Formats: sequence, structure tokens, C-alpha cells
Amino acid sequence: MTIPKNDTFLRALLKQPVEYTPVWLMRQAGRYLPEYNETRARAGDFLSLCKSPSLATEVTLQPLERFPLDAAILFSDILTIPDAMGLGLYFAQGEGPMFERPLRQESDIQALKVPDPDSDLRYVMDAVAEIRSALDNRVPLIGFSGSPFTLACYMVEGKGGTDFREIKTMLYKQPELLHQILEKNAQAVTAYLNAQIESGAQAVMIFDTWGGALSHTAYREFSLQYMQQILAGLKREQAGLRIPNIVFTKGGGLWLEAISDIGCDAVGLDWTIDIGDARRRVGDKVALQGNLDPSILFASPEIITKEVEKILTSYGNGSGHVFNLGHGISQFTPPENAAALVEAVHALSRKFH
Ligand code: CP3
Repeated sequence: MTIPKNDTFLRALLKQPVEYTPVWLMRQAGRYLPEYNETRARAGDFLSLCKSPSLATEVTLQPLERFPLDAAILFSDILTIPDAMGLGLYFAQGEGPMFERPLRQESDIQALKVPDPDSDLRYVMDAVAEIRSALDNRVPLIGFSGSPFTLACYMVEGKGGTDFREIKTMLYKQPELLHQILEKNAQAVTAYLNAQIESGAQAVMIFDTWGGALSHTAYREFSLQYMQQILAGLKREQAGLRIPNIVFTKGGGLWLEAISDIGCDAVGLDWTIDIGDARRRVGDKVALQGNLDPSILFASPEIITKEVEKILTSYGNGSGHVFNLGHGISQFTPPENAAALVEAVHALSRKFH
């Protein structure tokens, strides 16, 4: 049993008492940090950085050297799974992720292999182990994956930033094909997250970045159901310690009750919802993570402090809140404003505990 020296984040996820509200930032290791850009230049490109356990360890630790964050997150990407499935992932300059062989035909979908994380995604497991050792139990390490539906968006569209025409056409015209993809993705994600837990991840998060693009009924059938299946197959304990999980559907505020019902420990919130209302709606069922608009980090430290106070006040007294942004930090964020955010959360939250 190795409990991190600072386990505030894990306790908040399990709604156990804490002295202050823990904080970490989605995409905390990234392009807004000059040291990240320096390491990425040394790696050559983003994918090589993900595939080098020692460089991934280096960038995972960079934000922790600057800010007193309460958790580290594995440096990787959600698209490692479709990459391991052989879809030919690449990052075109300034264009985001692309696939050489997007999934369009039934034969391609039937041929899709669920990757074995211990061989096909060995580099991720090696990174998790190396990061744990470099962290030396300072703070917990979060492992993560994309949701089956969010992964399918990239796999079917072949790139990001689309109007979801391909995947929604499949969803409405050939739903059984999309279900085949989602079933394989759910199996892949379950094995991948369990392997991360066995390699040392102390909490796991599912990023359902595009679930919010679905209709009310399609969300349940094509995204939520598969996340529920993953949670049912997830290891809940490792070496005698609970491994809490977080489910984040961007744009999922309308469906909070349904999300909180699938067996997760915590629900991630984007910035479109009031966290106090969210808390009243989910009751004691789950902890909440969020939910500052990342654009607030373009303002001044004074304004950031005021906005932090609003969220802490809205959540109110007691444990069960992990402070975070409502989505990833922008590459144009001044690092000193991220520092102001972390400091404000730590200083202002003590009175609520
Ligand atoms: O939070 C962290 O610090 C961990 C690292 C992390 C990355 N991607 C690194 C990354 C995590 C958790 C992700 C998840 C991810 N990747 C998601 C879900 C979360 C979200 O943001 O919605 C998605 C949809 C992806 C797919 C992806 N990867 C996209 C769309 C892009 C391009 C985005 C952009 O801003 O250009 C990436 C690239 C990526 N993943 C970068 C980083 C730091 C930037 C790449 C670079 O260095 O050039």
C-alpha cells in the first residue's frame, strides 16, 4: 500500500474529509508551458513525445514543478487506442489529429482488432510506471482514456473539427455498424484503463469530449451505455487502495442525473452549468470536478481569484469537489495566470472545509 503524501485529490473524489479543495488542470502539461515546447522540439513531434516513456515522464512532471497541483495526469493522448488498432494516426501541422484509414466500410469495422494494452500499448504502461517512480508519491497519478463514442468520432470522421456528418450518418442510417465499433472500443478502453491501473494509475478519467453533440436519446444509446459497460469492468481496487474514476461528458450538463447513475465516483463538468445546481441534482451520489471557463485564464489574477471564489461558494461546504477547468487549458494561457488559479483555490477553499 502506497498512499500519496498528498492524497487530497483521492479523498475529494471519494467524498472523504479534506482540508482544502484539490486542484489540477485538464491539459496541464502542454503548449502554454515553454518547457513543454522545448521537450516536444527535442522529441521531434507530438506522437514521438507520447511514445517515449522518459520524455512523457519529463513533461508530466513539468507543471508540478511550477505549481502546487494536487494530481499529475499521464502525458499521452486519447487517440493511442485507434492508433494501436492500425488506423494510421498522424498530426498534420496546425490541423490536429488525422487518420490515414478512417472507418467507413463494414469489412473494415469487422476487421478491427481490440488492442492488447500490454503489448500494443506497452509504451503507455511503461510511461505510467516511470511517472509513478519519478513522482515518488508526491501526488496521485491520473490515467485516462477517451470514451468509446468520442474515439469513434475520430475513427469514423478521420479527423477532428468536423460537423460529425460521417458519424451521425452512420448513427442514423446504419446504427448496428456504429454499435460494432462502440462495442470494440468499450472492450479496448476497459482493458486499457485496467492495464494503466495495474501499472500504477491511482485514479482514472474517461474523456467524452463529443458526447454533448448527441441528441438526448442518442447520448444514452451511443455514449452513456458504453461508459457504463466500461465502469462495470473496471478494477475498483489495486494493492488494497480504492481507484476512483471520473466521467466527463463535455456538454453533458442536461444529463447529469443519468451520468451520475452509471456507477462513477465523480462527474466532470464543463463551464455551462452552475456547480451548486449540479450538486443539488446529483445529491450524495458522486463527487464533482470542474468547472472554470478556461478563457477566464486570459484575464487578470484579480479576476481569476473572483471567479474561483464564485465556484467555491456555489459548491459550498464539505468535500466532494475537485477544482478544475471546464475543458483543457488553452495554449495561449499565460503560465502566471495558471499559478494564480491554483493559489486562489488553495487559499480560498479552506473556509469551506
Ligand atoms: O491533461 C494532460 O495534461 C494530459 C494530456 C492530454 C493530451 N490530450 C495531450 C495533448 C490529454 C488528457 C488529452 C486528451 C485528448 N486528446 C482529448 C480529450 C480531452 C479534450 O481535450 O477534449 C482529445 C479530444 C484528444 C485528441 C487531440 N489530441 C486533439 C483534438 C489534439 C489537438 C488539440 C490542439 O489543441 O491542437 C490533440 C493533441 C494534443 N494532445 C496536444 C496535447 C498537449 C497538443 C499537441 C502538441 O503538442 O502539438
